[in-house]
Amino acid sequence: ERIPATLIPGDGIGPEVTKATVDVLDALGAPFEWETQAAGMAAVDATGDPLPQSTLDSIRRNKLALKGPLTTPVGGGFRSVNVRLREEFKLYANLRPAKTIIPGRYENIDIVLVRENIEGLYVAHEYFVPVGDDPRAVAVSTGVNTREGCRRIARYAFDYAVKNGRKKVTIVHKANVLKALTGIFLEAARDVAKEYAGRVEVDDRIVDACAMQLVLNPWQFDMLLCTNLFGDILSDQLAGLIGGLGMAPGANIGDQAAIFEAVHGSAPDIAGKGVANPVSLLLAAAMMLDHVGKQDLGNRIRNGIQATLLEHNVRTRDLGGTASTTEFTSALIKRL
Ligand code: NAI
Ligand code: MG
Repeated sequence: ERIPATLIPGDGIGPEVTKATVDVLDALGAPFEWETQAAGMAAVDATGDPLPQSTLDSIRRNKLALKGPLTTPVGGGFRSVNVRLREEFKLYANLRPAKTIIPGRYENIDIVLVRENIEGLYVAHEYFVPVGDDPRAVAVSTGVNTREGCRRIARYAFDYAVKNGRKKVTIVHKANVLKALTGIFLEAARDVAKEYAGRVEVDDRIVDACAMQLVLNPWQFDMLLCTNLFGDILSDQLAGLIGGLGMAPGANIGDQAAIFEAVHGSAPDIAGKGVANPVSLLLAAAMMLDHVGKQDLGNRIRNGIQATLLEHNVRTRDLGGTASTTEFTSALIKRL
């Protein structure tokens, strides 16, 4: 049977990597029936609105989307559409697995990061306070973490550990300084961990020390449970351990919908050149197949990517190769 899903090509390299991904899914005979919708700069250009109502309606109807990266203006301009989508559909869990395919600086990395996705400093109320003749003399930002939200993401992480045979969850925080904002997260997560005693180990790290230990000895970590901002930062660091942002998929999951995407952004420096690595979004598509109960097809994508990179040695530039996006995609499809 066909599964309707929303497809958002996105900005920058987005259209290039989404086309590659849809081509691979088609070649596999994946059951998705795409409804293409706009968001981000592409939607501003087409409709004047970075997040048109029809895009929201489509996701609400399908409860399932594959999304290319969206450009967010720095400083002023419109609010991040990614953040709005996560809030709109209460996609509270951001699941970001990082697993070595090509051994490089590191090998045998296998860490799953779970990022709280709708609280913390990303829902901050931000404003300026004027002093004298400077209207923006003081910047204020307030973050929000709720006990309910912290418990919900902790439960998601520990349930994931149980279902996927993971041994240990490390809670990442800064409760020594942000005693309230991240203290509540540590407290709630430790509390939830007790329900999993004997099944899943728990420990915790202060975020800065965790960042250092990820470089020195990443193999000590199994799963990382993070607040929103720390999870954003550490997931890019994890991508760096496995060959870069071209290798890192992510899933935004809630009870109402799930949106699958790459960890990377729109990569304006290489957009339009046909050299983007589509593996991140392809791995996100594999997670999407797992999500709808088609693990067999998800595994075929993962195995195909591994064979294309390792046995056939077809790699894009970010991985030291010379293949274009379409050359890599054709090689993968041939392999499938
Ligand atoms: P970025 O992730 O777009 O790029 C960082 C570096 O990694 C660049 O040198 C880029 O060329 C490289 N890179 C990223 N993906 C790659 C791929 N698939 N293949 C080869 N190289 C790749 O981060 P940046 O430049 O900080 O952000 C650009 C824009 O993307 C911003 O507007 C930002 O807000 C947005 N963004 C959107 C995200 C999303 O839609 N989920 C996530 C992160 C950033
Ligand atoms: Mg990020």
